[in-house]
Amino acid sequence: PGFEDAFHKAAERHERAWVFVTLVMLMGILACTMYFVVYDYGVVVRTAAYRSDPTALGGPAPGVVPAADAGLVKTGPNAYAVHMVAHMWGWTPSPLHIPEGATVTFYVTSIDVLHGFEVKGTTINVTAVPGITGEVTYMFKHAGTLDIICNEYCGIEHQAMLGRIIVDP
Ligand code: CUA
Repeated sequence: PGFEDAFHKAAERHERAWVFVTLVMLMGILACTMYFVVYDYGVVVRTAAYRSDPTALGGPAPGVVPAADAGLVKTGPNAYAVHMVAHMWGWTPSPLHIPEGATVTFYVTSIDVLHGFEVKGTTINVTAVPGITGEVTYMFKHAGTLDIICNEYCGIEHQAMLGRIIVDP
């Protein structure tokens, strides 16, 4: 009986250890999923300040499309901000000129329906939601021309909803 008792105790220790490992792995998977949902595919909204009133961030009033040639606003050394507005079916401002090496924060919203702000060849991917301002920051390391596409079906001209970013050397 002494041996059996020791055996059961050891087995129980192992079981508890593996249950713990399994729980840690599950939580890790959940955390990764949440991270990707929020930062890669989701709506990036940090606080109430980012909701409903882009003018609070120096952006255009709701329903107003900025000038096509509205450029970057300097926010620091080599840092800039821009308000990117989606509308059926285009992106404004476009073409957008960015100096090489600049770090740019995009404040993204829509004046009509859901759109998807994606810059090909980068990790920029934010859903443009009417009434909500999403935010994404990216450093443009290389000069060249980048295409803005819409990755959220938004109507008859969805596939033609293009914009352009020109990173100047
Ligand atoms: Cu806008 Cu699809």
